[in-house]
Amino acid sequence: MNLEKLIRDVPDFPKKGIIFKDITTLLKNSDGLNYAVNLLYDFAKGKGITKVAGIESRGFILGGILASKLNAGFVPIRKPNKLPAEKISATYELEYGTDKIEIHKDAIEKGDKVLLHDDLLATGGTMEAAVKLIEELGGEVVQIGFIIELCFLNGKDKLKNYDVVSLIKYD
Ligand code: PRP
Ligand code: MG
Repeated sequence: MNLEKLIRDVPDFPKKGIIFKDITTLLKNSDGLNYAVNLLYDFAKGKGITKVAGIESRGFILGGILASKLNAGFVPIRKPNKLPAEKISATYELEYGTDKIEIHKDAIEKGDKVLLHDDLLATGGTMEAAVKLIEELGGEVVQIGFIIELCFLNGKDKLKNYDVVSLIKYD
């Protein structure tokens, strides 16, 4: 199955000059969705993963499905001021300024083996911050899975010490 064919290119979104990689066309296709989930599951299975952490918002979709398939728990990593209980945060760089993601303090226990999931790897800033959150809570990042990797942005350089897998690579 050619997953790349199920990704829609949307020119000039969210800004002029950017070609947005839209995964909704993959998600709505039942064969495509199952195929993508099973590929990521095959990469992650057998590694003793106890938690899948998904990054808001597009990382929640497959993150939840993967957690269930792996018999692991699901943990949301959220944008600022969304989580209700005690939390920690990590800041990362944007093109202009910074942004923040947060996780509940009790989301990860020491020794948890964590699969981090997001839909897309661009500059890697978001995922680098997510790794910090997991490790600060004593979790071990066993694998990092993406649907899409924009290789030309070199986000993988920020994640070199980790097992990074992605299903569709754009050079
Ligand atoms: C996008 C994408 C990743 C992140 C990747 O999310 O879903 O989470 O950017 O960028 P980076 O590798 O340069 O950090 P976005 O923040 O647009 O939010 P969304 O998932 O809620 O749409
Ligand atoms: Mg996102």
